[in-house]
Amino acid sequence: MSGSKVRITDLREKKRRGEKIVMLTAYDANMARLLDGAGVDVLLVGDSVGVVMLGYDDTLSVTLDDMLHHTRAVARGTSRALVVADMPFMTYQVSVEEAVRNAGRLIQAGAAAVKVEGGPAIAGAVRRLVEVGIPVMGHLGLRPQSVHQMGGYHRQAVQREDIEALVEDAHALERAGAFAIVLEAVGHDAARQVTAAIGVPTIGIGSGPHCDGQVLVSPDMLGLFAGQIPSFAKQYVRLVDDITRAAREYVDDVRAGRFPEVALPATPKP
Ligand code: KIV
Repeated sequence: MSGSKVRITDLREKKRRGEKIVMLTAYDANMARLLDGAGVDVLLVGDSVGVVMLGYDDTLSVTLDDMLHHTRAVARGTSRALVVADMPFMTYQVSVEEAVRNAGRLIQAGAAAVKVEGGPAIAGAVRRLVEVGIPVMGHLGLRPQSVHQMGGYHRQAVQREDIEALVEDAHALERAGAFAIVLEAVGHDAARQVTAAIGVPTIGIGSGPHCDGQVLVSPDMLGLFAGQIPSFAKQYVRLVDDITRAAREYVDDVRAGRFPEVALPATPKP
């Protein structure tokens, strides 16, 4: 799909018009090219790269250097989609100055915006980033960088008081200048209430159909990740099976001498 570059203002316009926003994660130039060509609006260089690509147990070990490397690759493969880069754990929580410096490096690596996890506790950093011209996407609900504080990867905001707190957190991010908010693994009613309460788009993952857009981790939806996949992630294809089958065939062919094929003698010219 061709067309002009997706800008943060286009996402708000999509919310106003009731058009769904489509986001997927990407970690390398080749996949970015494929997903961009398929018409995805936003490519997130998620810190999920640590789990689905780099073999870490969680996102806490992901470094700024990891994110810079993958952001550069995704930016090289993208021509239309908005590229958003996750700020990894401890690159924006310590001080506003550090947040600005680190976000700036991700923008220099080719991202058009950064994503941060948290509510009022990081609103000061969000406000400053926006003031200096760096667009910020928020991330509420299940926040994988806070897995230890949250006691595991559980659904969030199901009880009434938790839903009210989530709506407040979303308001705080919107006031600080966030241009969109990811809602991860929150109750469907919570997602509906936040989406109705704020003017900026919500993008859901495992949070039901009421958000302004949806995001999935691309190796989950492509069946490309060999580990555990969340139950909400629809698999559109099972590439794990195709890759395993192809690799086994190659192993057999090489061992049996079927590959490479013996070249046929060239037909003699008359
Ligand atoms: O890192 C990531 O892939 C994310 C998505 C789950 C939204 O933050």
